[in-house]
Amino acid sequence: MVPTKVQHKKRQVAIFIILMFLWETDAKSIQYSIMEETETGTFVANLSKDLGLRVGELAQRGAQVIFKGNRQHLQLDPQTRDLLLLNEKLDREELCDSAEQCVLPFQVLLEKPLQFFQAALQVRDINDHAPEFPAREMLLKISEMTTPGKIFPLKMAQDLDAGSNSLQSYTVSSNPHFHVLTRTRSDGKKFPELVLDKALDREEQHQLRLTITALDGGAPPRTGTSEIQILVLDSNDNAPEFAYQLYEAMVPENSPLGSLVITVSAIDLDEGSFGMVSYALFQDDDVNQTFKINALTGEIRVRDTLDFEKFQSYHLDVEATDGGGLTGKCSLIIKVLDVNDNSPELTMSSLNSHIPENLPGIIVAVFSVSDADSGYNQQVICSIDDNIPFLLRPSVENFYTLVTDGPLDREKKSEYNITITVTDLGTPRLRTQHNLTVQVSDVNDNAPTFTQASYTLLVPENSSPALHIGTVSATDRDSGANAQLTYSLLPPRDPQPG
Ligand SMILES: *[C@@H]1O[C@H](CO)[C@@H](O)[C@H](O)[C@H]1NC(C)=O
Ligand SMILES: *[C@@H]1O[C@H](CO)[C@@H](O)[C@H](O)[C@H]1NC(C)=O
Ligand SMILES: *[C@@H]1O[C@H](CO)[C@@H](O)[C@H](O)[C@H]1NC(C)=O
Ligand SMILES: *[C@@H]1O[C@H](CO)[C@@H](O)[C@H](O)[C@H]1NC(C)=O
Repeated sequence: MVPTKVQHKKRQVAIFIILMFLWETDAKSIQYSIMEETETGTFVANLSKDLGLRVGELAQRGAQVIFKGNRQHLQLDPQTRDLLLLNEKLDREELCDSAEQCVLPFQVLLEKPLQFFQAALQVRDINDHAPEFPAREMLLKISEMTTPGKIFPLKMAQDLDAGSNSLQSYTVSSNPHFHVLTRTRSDGKKFPELVLDKALDREEQHQLRLTITALDGGAPPRTGTSEIQILVLDSNDNAPEFAYQLYEAMVPENSPLGSLVITVSAIDLDEGSFGMVSYALFQDDDVNQTFKINALTGEIRVRDTLDFEKFQSYHLDVEATDGGGLTGKCSLIIKVLDVNDNSPELTMSSLNSHIPENLPGIIVAVFSVSDADSGYNQQVICSIDDNIPFLLRPSVENFYTLVTDGPLDREKKSEYNITITVTDLGTPRLRTQHNLTVQVSDVNDNAPTFTQASYTLLVPENSSPALHIGTVSATDRDSGANAQLTYSLLPPRDPQPG
């Protein structure tokens, strides 16, 4: 190898070391904030400025914005690539469900040289949903013997917004008998309870109609209403009562449909049909579709597939009704247990499948790994075969870089098949493999060599010109243009003295 090449190699090593230093220390995080439902193409930030880069540097260095699951919420503006723009209208409710804070982390990846920046996009809620009751009308049967102070749970309204835009309180139309309380459930949702202030008299009034209003915390608040029809019963009937006010159960997310979760039970002190209890789910919104209850036995079973990654727990209310129409209520919290049912995922951000020979520390690939499970089921390890001259380096977050471990020699091996294996630590272990092929491209590092160090050709005297007197031959181990040879004769050396 010629001396100039050795020097070139040393400089590459130095650049590589500086780079490693950069990507390991440059992990500050920037947070941007945008209102949900903002129009596509809206300016979010001057990214060059915020990252302290030169104008045009993001374009030159092949910048990419990477969100989880390859979603393209933001884009670099197509002309200059300095500005960050909104790439799609965002719906906070779709992205973050009922979570109080909706923050989507992302990375800005620069290649040439490699550098990562951590950032996050906060999607702020707007009050785009009103509270809504599951039904326009609710029916409540109350015995005239009921004493003031008795509480009657009512079906709650839903508001898809979060934080202060979510449902905050309930009011009821003014009347002499009842007032309403706003209570908070174990999952944070607010439900109404009707409190009896003054005893009912069936001789005076057979039935009452009230209007209940749910208000959210927007300015101005949005509202939803429902009618409550109250029938006053003339009986000495007792209302059913559950053994417990609150039941708790756990269920693995892979439970087959129809699996028994728990059995609830209520007793009613009356005889005959007034003592017969039947069960039903109190709130007929979406929880209804995940679990079902047997009206006679109180057995609660899985009705639809569970997914820990979507819902970790459910709050259900169960109502028991006796033959006279009086009711009792209990609450049930069902916790879903995680099962290792998601394989790890590998997302390739950048791949350089042609790499030059002779240089050390070339970045072949930048990729991220993730796993949709939680806990141990989510933790992953990442590996490649150890008999190949490549290394995996962990980088920020879940990113890895695949780099060459020392210089490669195309003349020895021109192609490598690399298998990246990502395994999680769950039981059973699940793994994902990603195969890639790397071609080593040629550098003109081999001089042509003659088949013999010296050739002796015999020429008879008085030969005529252009007579073929013999052949010399050289080969070159490089490829392509680097291996094409031309021959020429050097001027004759000075005749040897003597
Ligand atoms: C972004 O910020 C840089 C540096 O402050 C500035 O030079 C450039 O003009 C800005 N780009 C735009 C399009 O505003
Ligand atoms: C809830 O279940 C009941 C019967 O179990 C059914 O009549 C009702 O339509 C269900 N509600 C929804 C929203 O699916
Ligand atoms: C790499 O894989 C390809 C296709 O799977 C195969 O044709 C090639 O021979 C492999 N190369 C090496 C060096 O194993
Ligand atoms: C990757 O390569 C390995 C070994 O060469 C092979 O067993 C595996 O099936 C390949 N995987 C994919 C996804 O092609």
